[in-house]
Amino acid sequence: MMRLDKYLADMGMGTRSEIKEKIKKGQIRVNEEIIKKPETKVEPFTDKISVQGKTVGYVTYEYYMLNKPSGYVSATTDSKYPTVLDLISDKKRKDLFPVGRLDIDTEGLLLITNDGALSHQLLSPKKHVKKTYFAKIEGYVTKEDVLKFKEGLAIGEEKLTLPAELLILKSDAISEIKVTIVEGKFHQIKRMFEAVDKKVLFLKRLSMGSLILDEELALGEYRPLTEQEIRGLKGN
Ligand code: URA
Repeated sequence: MMRLDKYLADMGMGTRSEIKEKIKKGQIRVNEEIIKKPETKVEPFTDKISVQGKTVGYVTYEYYMLNKPSGYVSATTDSKYPTVLDLISDKKRKDLFPVGRLDIDTEGLLLITNDGALSHQLLSPKKHVKKTYFAKIEGYVTKEDVLKFKEGLAIGEEKLTLPAELLILKSDAISEIKVTIVEGKFHQIKRMFEAVDKKVLFLKRLSMGSLILDEELALGEYRPLTEQEIRGLKGN
């Protein structure tokens, strides 16, 4: 059982005081009956809650795959830039957050959820979850770079980076590569290329653990994860 005002707040129906106001005005019904007490206990999955005639179902967890465009911050709020949460227009829960960060100019796969345990599991440095990126690099990427990425690079951290798999797709004045890392240090890919005197011009995340970016999603589009994708991430 859960308090009615918490149920409505969880589902993004406004702040606690806005919700109190709606309840006072008689806009909230539980099983068709107008309820005037915010502290009324409801059963989230059996009681029917409605706000101004519209049923508001309860969900405990939400999981979305976003194809992040450049120009959006991987945060829940920001004073200057729009956030990745601004793109999730039909979210139900108000407590969603991005799992890890992509830089403002990085594109691609970002998981948005309110599942803290899963987030922890994916971000824990001990778990070595693989993240694969596509990148365009200024300068010729060489076999020596591949070796250096494998051996570990000094990027100004206490230790060298863990072995990373660098795959050259095109070595040219502007090279194209795929790289897989098992860490998530701040600006890691950019710093790894800096360590071999090269510059990342474009960066896009393709996968995180078992989750692969759905190429059907245009930049800025998102979709809920499938049950199978959720199970995959949880390691089942
Ligand atoms: N590495 C970076 O440098 N930036 C990202 O956004 C992700 C990984």
